[in-house]
Amino acid sequence: MSRHEAALRELDAAGAFSGAPWIREAMDAVRREAFVPDVIWRDDGDVYTRVDRRTDPAGWSAVVDGRGPVVTQVDDGVGAEHGEVATSSISDRLAVANFLSTLDVRPGQRVWEVGTGSGWTAALLAHRVGPRGRVVTVEIDRALADAARARLSPWAETVRVVAGDGEDSASAAGVDGVDWRWDRVHATAAVTRHIPQAWVERTVPGAVLVVPFSPPFESGSLLRLVAKEHGVASGRFVKSVAFMPLRGHRNLGHDVFDEIRAAHPAHDSTPVDWHLAGLSADGNHTQALALKLPDVHRSTGAGGAKWWLHDNKDSWALVDDTADTGHALQGGPRKLWNEAAAIIAWQDDAEVHAYDFGITVEPDAQWAWAGTPNERWRM
Ligand SMILES: C[S@@+](CC[C@H](N)C(=O)[O-])C[C@H]1O[C@@H](n2cnc3c(N)ncnc32)[C@H](O)[C@@H]1O
Repeated sequence: MSRHEAALRELDAAGAFSGAPWIREAMDAVRREAFVPDVIWRDDGDVYTRVDRRTDPAGWSAVVDGRGPVVTQVDDGVGAEHGEVATSSISDRLAVANFLSTLDVRPGQRVWEVGTGSGWTAALLAHRVGPRGRVVTVEIDRALADAARARLSPWAETVRVVAGDGEDSASAAGVDGVDWRWDRVHATAAVTRHIPQAWVERTVPGAVLVVPFSPPFESGSLLRLVAKEHGVASGRFVKSVAFMPLRGHRNLGHDVFDEIRAAHPAHDSTPVDWHLAGLSADGNHTQALALKLPDVHRSTGAGGAKWWLHDNKDSWALVDDTADTGHALQGGPRKLWNEAAAIIAWQDDAEVHAYDFGITVEPDAQWAWAGTPNERWRM
């Protein structure tokens, strides 16, 4: 059995195509390998290492045949032999199947994709919408956009590749001289807080938007919004996914914590009454924290039992729940651990499931909500 066939059977076993057999047909017809460039980047733990198919075909196949995503660019294209940050990748097949089944795209529809990358998902979308449909896909990196356009030439009747910033509604304007209105919006780079209003305002009522949401507090989930009239869209989270952020949404790293802590010495040491490792593994609590503290970054250590929090400005908390000695050290104008502890206590009582939280986008504001859109707070 070929690796391709084996991969599809694994997805069958995982139920990835249930209710959407067209995704299997599309993945069979539009093979992922054909969109993988000769140069890819192997994840070696703390560094990405360049692997070139022309000089190391076995090493290349070992990465491409794996189950995970394939990193196709590091450090925005400046890396030579090694790189630190993955800036483009072809997602793993299961994640793509989950995205596409959530998007529920139909033949003849007009689709706006943000994050062309290799062009593979754009080709799958083109296969689905067919000759009466249209896929416009935007990629912020010009070199990636040019390479994807060449790979997508067999679908040139249906797909347009635009080099530009997908957060900007102008990037779709003028394609084929048409003022496009989308039936589906498919983002393959994550939003960390605010959904770009441009994605909502160019949709038709009833349009579905599928957006990976990766807040700074946790790794993230997939959001499915349905557009209403007048620039409003609303919907719930549907699945856990971790995705690289949109270029304009990149988080600052852990080192900012040390800077903030140095500038604002601890003023407070508070006992910790919660079991942090248990909370870290509990998606319902982390979802509540991520949405109620949308500006708070969290890193964890010791299997989730130690939290480093900061607000990227002037407040921080270092939280450790070790029995007898554990405490929360806090500095800056906000007491971030006290804020987090209050939300944990609220969620302990409310028991809102992670996928019962949702987001509503309005022209001038974005709201998160728990259970129903009436129980909402501004993000
Ligand atoms: C996970 S990859 C997309 C994978 C892609 N759909 C595929 O099939 O290969 C995310 C892509 O989003 C692009 N990107 C990031 N921010 C963007 C933005 N503001 N507008 C358009 N593209 C963006 C990145 O350069 C990267 O290529």
